[in-house]
Amino acid sequence: MDNPSKNRIQELRSQLHHHNYRYYVLDDPEISDAQYDRLLRELEELESRHPEWITPDSPTQRVGAQPADKFQSVAHSLPMLSLENGFSFEDVREFDRRIKRFLKNDREIEYTAEPKMDGLAIELVYEKGVLVRSSTRGDGLMGEEITRNVRTIHAIPLRLLGSKVPPPEGLEVRGEVYIKIKDFKEFNRKREEAGEAPFANPRNAAAGSLRQLDPKITAQRPLYFFAYGLGLVTGRSFASQWEVLQALPKWGLPVNPLLRLCQGINECLDFCQEMESLRHTLAYEIDGVVLKVNAFSRQEQLGIKSRSPRWALAFKFQPSQETTQVLNIEVQVGRTGTLTPVAHLKPVLVGGVEVSRATLHNQDEIERKDIRIGDTVIIQRAGEVIPEVVKVITSQRRGSEKSFSMPEKCPVCESPVVRLPGESAHRCTNPNCPAQIKESIRHFASKGAMDIEGLGEKLVDQLVEKELIRDYGDLFYLSRDQLIPLERLAEKSADNLVQALERSKKTKLSRFIYALGIRHAGEHLSGLLANHFGSLKALMEVSEEELTSLREVGPQVARSIRTFFNNPRNREVIEKILRAGVVFEEKKTTARLPLAGKVLVLTGKLAGMTREQAKGKIENLGGKMAGQVSGKVDFLIAGEDPGSKLDKARELKVPVLSEEEFMKLLKER
Ligand code: IVH
Repeated sequence: MDNPSKNRIQELRSQLHHHNYRYYVLDDPEISDAQYDRLLRELEELESRHPEWITPDSPTQRVGAQPADKFQSVAHSLPMLSLENGFSFEDVREFDRRIKRFLKNDREIEYTAEPKMDGLAIELVYEKGVLVRSSTRGDGLMGEEITRNVRTIHAIPLRLLGSKVPPPEGLEVRGEVYIKIKDFKEFNRKREEAGEAPFANPRNAAAGSLRQLDPKITAQRPLYFFAYGLGLVTGRSFASQWEVLQALPKWGLPVNPLLRLCQGINECLDFCQEMESLRHTLAYEIDGVVLKVNAFSRQEQLGIKSRSPRWALAFKFQPSQETTQVLNIEVQVGRTGTLTPVAHLKPVLVGGVEVSRATLHNQDEIERKDIRIGDTVIIQRAGEVIPEVVKVITSQRRGSEKSFSMPEKCPVCESPVVRLPGESAHRCTNPNCPAQIKESIRHFASKGAMDIEGLGEKLVDQLVEKELIRDYGDLFYLSRDQLIPLERLAEKSADNLVQALERSKKTKLSRFIYALGIRHAGEHLSGLLANHFGSLKALMEVSEEELTSLREVGPQVARSIRTFFNNPRNREVIEKILRAGVVFEEKKTTARLPLAGKVLVLTGKLAGMTREQAKGKIENLGGKMAGQVSGKVDFLIAGEDPGSKLDKARELKVPVLSEEEFMKLLKER
């Protein structure tokens, strides 16, 4: 037998398990996606030569199961309970009072507070550390067996880790499968492009993805998982919910890092408030906070009332859905000429924010939902997404509602509107349409693109209407004297804008590609193109074939990039910009100073040095110290009594260093 291969297979599997853990549980990968793929491919290759050595928990075995005819029912060993809801702080206080009465105890109770994920509850059954079964919650007693689908979710370990503390003999884990808002939007966009009906919200998308009879379909969906509790456990006991939440990640099960152990109900209320304000900045949807009495001995004393435990409460945020009326439907023209219908709504408060407009996406969407002017509709706000109409309440129709169809002429320039075969969008055919020009300039100047400060919406309108500029290339030729006569532009602002334009000339290739406004080339893809091609010239000359050879570039995207650069108008504008002196920062291959290009933020007090000293040390090594945590920050140093920056860093997945780690970093570098 060729044992070297067998050893290598085992080594590859344990490496892949380890890197999965780094990625999904610690959120701190040690290798790149490409390196991971290489290890996986090597394993696949070895296993294909030795199929007799394939085990069900091998990382190669996530997909591959055949489609099923239907789902089997399975009983949960312990019922999957539901939660009682609370809608106000008073409800939360009453929950605490009830617990104290019941326990005949008036000292502070210890609670765990966890974000309430808005996804789908599932149960995972591990036997001797291997995932053997998984099911949906169902009615709480019986669920549907979805093991083959669950195996495709990379965040769920097929085998538990157990290097330090071995996992119990039998472990049933409960948690939530969810989809990130960004992935959800992207996924819906693709569905619409393919002519399929989009999902109403991330929860439906997650549920629909899990309930696929063909696991290959589930495998293509960006599903994630957070564990929050246990079912039946054999071979180990736990004393508290907090102990469980600490133990699960050690076995490779991801747990939401935004958890807190609260002494008394006031700390719980603080947490609820913090989560409510963080809510719309998170990568995924949460609809409340789950509070649980921490000690299991107390949970047992409190017991269960009908289907929900007395020891837990779901504090629900104000709903992000509301009912209102469509007053009118208007059409907006975007930078690529796309006509987007927008509903004007009778203003309502949704989750604390006033909403008076909602996007209707396109004609198909309006027809599918049968939205008419005058309709009473349910609208929803999710994450930072523009509000949407979820559905029409048809029972409220009185007969006077008017249906809508897309105009045949552009509402801005009156040129003919077309709908190209295979596209869901209507477009204005005039490349010189002022709406398109204005939008493309706004996009060019926006934060993620050229980041030209002070070039607001109104100013762009004026510049285009007064014919001072015809495209974004003209921006760099504007003079102070041309700007000053403009309405509401003081001399100082004119100077500032000229300076901002000057500053923006030194940019990054990825930003510039994104700024061009090529259809389908978003920030992520632009970054990828910049990295891959390294220069604008190379990208401008590349063939459609070569573009499609990149993993994330499909034929439609490749065509769109090629069409953009084939257009002589676009090439002229690019030349004009380069002539104005726009340059791209060289990629630093060998940074001389050890912290070169790194941005660090400090929160709390350091024991060993003052803030000024820390700043000095960072700068000496080529780094920068910033005041606020943002996506651009490389590390947060958390001293004693850290402030809200720490929460922000965790949420943005910015690595957090303790003072000790920071000192080590300074020494190492
Ligand atoms: S605990 C008795 N914790 O909320 C405890 N549930 O009705 C039962 N949910 O669909 C659940 N996040 O999937 C718990 N941190 C969390 C949760 C959570 C979301 C969902 C759960 C179920 C519903 C409870």
